[in-house]
Amino acid sequence: MSRVRVHNFSISLDGFGTGDGQSLEAPFGHAGQRLHAWMFATRFWDDAGTAGVDNAFAERHGPGIGAEIMGAGKFGPPGWQDDPEWRGWWGPNPPFHTPVYVLTHRPRPPLEMDGGTTFHFVDAEPVDALAVAREAADGQDIRIGGGATMLREFLAAGLVDHLHVVQVPIVLGRGVRLWDGLEALEEQYDVEAVSSPSGVTHLTFTR
Ligand SMILES: NC(=O)c1ccc[n+]([C@@H]2O[C@H](COP(=O)([O-])OP(=O)(O)OC[C@H]3O[C@@H](n4cnc5c(N)ncnc54)[C@H](OP(=O)(O)O)[C@@H]3O)[C@@H](O)[C@H]2O)c1
Repeated sequence: MSRVRVHNFSISLDGFGTGDGQSLEAPFGHAGQRLHAWMFATRFWDDAGTAGVDNAFAERHGPGIGAEIMGAGKFGPPGWQDDPEWRGWWGPNPPFHTPVYVLTHRPRPPLEMDGGTTFHFVDAEPVDALAVAREAADGQDIRIGGGATMLREFLAAGLVDHLHVVQVPIVLGRGVRLWDGLEALEEQYDVEAVSSPSGVTHLTFTR
């Protein structure tokens, strides 16, 4: 059976997966780019980047993935559902190169992009969205792309096999929390932590 994986999901010390006040100008709200600064510094992101522990984790994002599921809050800023021209943040050739299922209560027809990415918009429970994505992934794994709200739903439903969370040493104070309501989640997984010289801690939860 293909696995359900999460990679590079970055949270603040106080557990926020995005800041407060998301907008077109500030996709992560008041967090700015601080949650992913560790990743932007790696070779995974930039050819001139670092090749150490952060890169080793970051580059596990792509291999073996046949489909992604993401939330409406990752696909666009608040209100994108009212803009028929909105095609995501990523330009004509998004970096997914697989089918991507966008969870939204306001679905629209699929968007076929360059490079093998097609966005499908689905209003479905996590377990049902996963069944559709799994079929599309054709034996490969499914990545849960976030944000925090939809990832929390998939964790609560017990659907995630491998979770890579990156704890970034910043305190955001406000935003959208990942862990709320997931009491004792760790009991379902083998948990490992690796600290990086960059200051972040890579946590993996593996079933
Ligand atoms: N920290 C990270 O590594 C990371 C990773 C990815 C994204 N992000 C950031 O996280 C933020 C987005 O996270 P978020 O928590 O605000 O939102 P989100 O999890 O991306 O999306 C939540 C929205 O998805 C829709 N949705 C969720 N479950 C659904 C279901 N079962 N059926 C139908 N629709 C469903 C609903 O939208 P509607 O009701 O409006 O349709 C819901 O409000 C962005 O700032 C993004 O940049 C962070």
